[in-house]
Amino acid sequence: MEQALAHTKFHLGYFTKFGPPAWRAESDRTHGDDWWTGQHFAKLGRRLEKSFFDFMFFEDSVNVSRVYQNSMDADLKFAIYTPKHDPLQLLPYLAGQTERIGLIGTASTSFYPPYLLARALSTADSLSSGRVGWNMVTSSERDAARNFGMDALPSPIERYDRADEFVELAKALWDSWEEGSLVIDQETNTYIDPSKVHAIDYVGKYHRSRGPLNTLRSPQGRPVLAQAGASDRGRDFAAKHADAVFALTGSGIEEMKALRSDLRARAKSHGRNPDDLKIFWATPAYITQGGGPVDRSFSDSEFVRIVAWWSTFFDLDLSNYDLDNPMPEGVTAMGHTSMMNQLQTWGRDMGVTLRQGLTMMAQGSDEIGIAGPAEKVAANLVAAMDEVGGDGIMILSNDVGNERFVSSIVDELVPELQRLGVVRTSYSGATLRENLRAF
Ligand SMILES: Cc1cc2nc3c(=O)[nH]c(=O)nc-3n(C[C@H](O)[C@H](O)[C@H](O)COP(=O)(O)O)c2cc1C
Repeated sequence: MEQALAHTKFHLGYFTKFGPPAWRAESDRTHGDDWWTGQHFAKLGRRLEKSFFDFMFFEDSVNVSRVYQNSMDADLKFAIYTPKHDPLQLLPYLAGQTERIGLIGTASTSFYPPYLLARALSTADSLSSGRVGWNMVTSSERDAARNFGMDALPSPIERYDRADEFVELAKALWDSWEEGSLVIDQETNTYIDPSKVHAIDYVGKYHRSRGPLNTLRSPQGRPVLAQAGASDRGRDFAAKHADAVFALTGSGIEEMKALRSDLRARAKSHGRNPDDLKIFWATPAYITQGGGPVDRSFSDSEFVRIVAWWSTFFDLDLSNYDLDNPMPEGVTAMGHTSMMNQLQTWGRDMGVTLRQGLTMMAQGSDEIGIAGPAEKVAANLVAAMDEVGGDGIMILSNDVGNERFVSSIVDELVPELQRLGVVRTSYSGATLRENLRAF
């Protein structure tokens, strides 16, 4: 007898930032308003852990934005990019407040010295018993560059070239302590076996380091590496290095499928097993009680916030363009080039205006059905993952993560996904990397 085809199992991640968690929510906007103490995220982490999320992820940036209308006002008033505290400081605190959930923080290859970051992440991986990940970003904000003594950032391609070297170097540093290097043997008076710790003598075009690290080899050897580049160069960087890729769903199922198979093919061409690279689709999830559709249009002041937000994202002041016409061709963004190309393509092929395009990008793809009662959203996510092939869903909570939102995810959506047998009901591994590789 033919067996019914099982659904594709998938992983769960939770997207947030070390900043105000709910300032754009419809109600209860002051929820978690002592976020800077870290306690809000500790509580959140414990709840997500009960739902067996693979990880919570903290996006980050290091600037107060002045791109929109050449002023900091919109950023500060609407709390768009600012305030954000340093997620790398938060991870060790959360490591002590949670037990199993993975903890992924963002840090920029354009600003950190590689040795310092490799050491900080190794330390955090040890503190968390192997639950730490690093979202490797190259940053795209000129305002951030100016905070580090640069007038501007290098071009996107050069940023990725530097990042490639950075990560190669960091990997060499993490591997500079072999497994078994820690001995702690009183009889031979040996704490560390010197034959198992090596200089790396890395000399690249952009970075140099003698090594080795002065931290012990961490439980995962190196942190889980995550990345979200979508351009050709960004995909190649991800395929070469990343354990997890964060991607948007904005262009729908066919594009999601194409991106996944492209990334897997690229991983293979780098000599990797494509199954070691997991793609997490970043998606909002609006669980409604009654079953009616959710109003996802934006008020005028919310839309100002969105335009200011994308201006910073693109490092291009969108207030200079007509919102009710397509994004002009030939305009280049300093950051998120693939999203700018998307806006221009939509404009050229479908007459989508800048206002419509930004709204579509801010809302995520309708195709994967992100609004409705838990049963409906769960069924849509399952159908999308069946179609796309995997590998994970990362729930976007940024600025809407009030109590109602969190409980709609952990008390309604996840139990339904568990009932359908598509997400885990226990942690299978001891480390984040092990969890990503098995259910
Ligand atoms: C889900 C997701 C999360 C991201 N998180 C960050 C972040 O925390 N910090 C950052 O500077 N960029 C972040 N980015 C931007 C990416 O690192 C990358 O610059 C962007 O996707 C554009 O890639 P591209 O230049 O290859 O087109 C994120 C992107 C996505 C889709």
